[in-house]
Amino acid sequence: MASLDNTNAQVHSSVKNYYGKVLSSTKDLKTSACTTGSKPNAVLQSIISKIPSAVNDRFYGCGNPIPLGIQGKDILDLGSGSGRDCYIAAALTGPKGSVTGVDMTDEQLEVARTSVQEYAETLGYTPKLHFLTGYIEMLGEAGVKDASIDVCISNCVVNLSPNKQMVLEGVYRALREGGEFYFSDVYADAQLPEDVRSHDVLLGECIGGALYSQEFEQMAEKVGFARPRVLAISHIEIHDAELKQLVGDVKFYSITYRLFKLPKNDKVEGPTTATYLGSIDGHAGEYVLDIDNRFETNVPMVVSSETAEAIAHSWISGFFTLKTPSANTGEPAARTPTDALMLKAYVEDQKSGGSSGCCAPKKESPSGGCCPPKKDSSSSGCCAPKKESSDSCCAPKKETHSLEILNKSNNDQCCSGPSKKCC
Ligand SMILES: C[S@@+](CC[C@H](N)C(=O)[O-])C[C@H]1O[C@@H](n2cnc3c(N)ncnc32)[C@H](O)[C@@H]1O
Repeated sequence: MASLDNTNAQVHSSVKNYYGKVLSSTKDLKTSACTTGSKPNAVLQSIISKIPSAVNDRFYGCGNPIPLGIQGKDILDLGSGSGRDCYIAAALTGPKGSVTGVDMTDEQLEVARTSVQEYAETLGYTPKLHFLTGYIEMLGEAGVKDASIDVCISNCVVNLSPNKQMVLEGVYRALREGGEFYFSDVYADAQLPEDVRSHDVLLGECIGGALYSQEFEQMAEKVGFARPRVLAISHIEIHDAELKQLVGDVKFYSITYRLFKLPKNDKVEGPTTATYLGSIDGHAGEYVLDIDNRFETNVPMVVSSETAEAIAHSWISGFFTLKTPSANTGEPAARTPTDALMLKAYVEDQKSGGSSGCCAPKKESPSGGCCPPKKDSSSSGCCAPKKESSDSCCAPKKETHSLEILNKSNNDQCCSGPSKKCC
């Protein structure tokens, strides 16, 4: 196994100093990088409210990389810090699962270890929750066994590593087949110049070590993971004028990635539909696999063979049924990702008042029609008169789309009235 050289040791010591001596609570941070993630979902929020405050006060994460549905699973947290995410995971795994945090900074580990007993009383059982001192580049030496982990999580840590490839290789080894690296971190939209990389505060605040996202994705696939899936992205704002000037035009993002470790020779062939069964606590109505794959409970979705493989051969498989659709079954057609996005756009439009589409009645329109006629377009575009519907801006809707719910809704919005014409 590769070892860490002197440069790596310098980065470790600078980062250790930052998290052990410079920062004493979240309030001491100088950029929003470590606190930028979106609000945790309701299940996580409720757990967080029960975690000892010493642990919560030293949270420096940039996302919410803790999947629901991990009851009984073995979880590893890289760079666990004061342990907030491990404490959350321990509540979700229950007494049968286990949670192991690895960190190199004694001051952080001390907080994490000290509050376990207090938390056990809150949970009503003693969780298998342990914190190991060690480097995330050398998980084996820290005491993590190969193929012993179902889900590895990490929150705003991999960017701090001077050798990200070693981290990914170690995680890959530690995961069981079907396991997953589910983590939030900071990425740049370009390669970073040396003065940004070596700046102690920018490094400590998770900016200086941010990888160019494309470079990171290639590295992950090279190590053996399936194609990286993005679950969430948010932009990171740098408020400090001096630091802002140093980074120039480069933009930074907190990204939650999902990297699955899948069997290499177990391909899913042909078209497949996946149906989420709604059985994960906290995800009763829908499950978001990544930004391209959102599953409503009990609604079959057409998925790519890559996605079918990720579902079929990973720890989430029990929450889905997979099927090769056969012709003429009389069943409604499965929904495609585009169908799902259309429906989502429609629902969002309705929530915001349903008036943003071009067919919504416009008060300012003198004719009372839905949109002012377009001078430069007599026949094209939604607002141009249609031959089959001279008095309205939209063609009558055909009722043949497989998405009945979408059609029904569109008709209500756009084509109501006896003629079924829009507006
Ligand atoms: C930004 S903090 C995040 C802490 C924690 N994940 C959280 O969300 O609060 C980074 C943590 O990673 C640890 N760390 C950074 N690089 C590390 C490495 N190479 N090996 C082990 N721990 C590391 C630091 O000691 C620090 O506790």
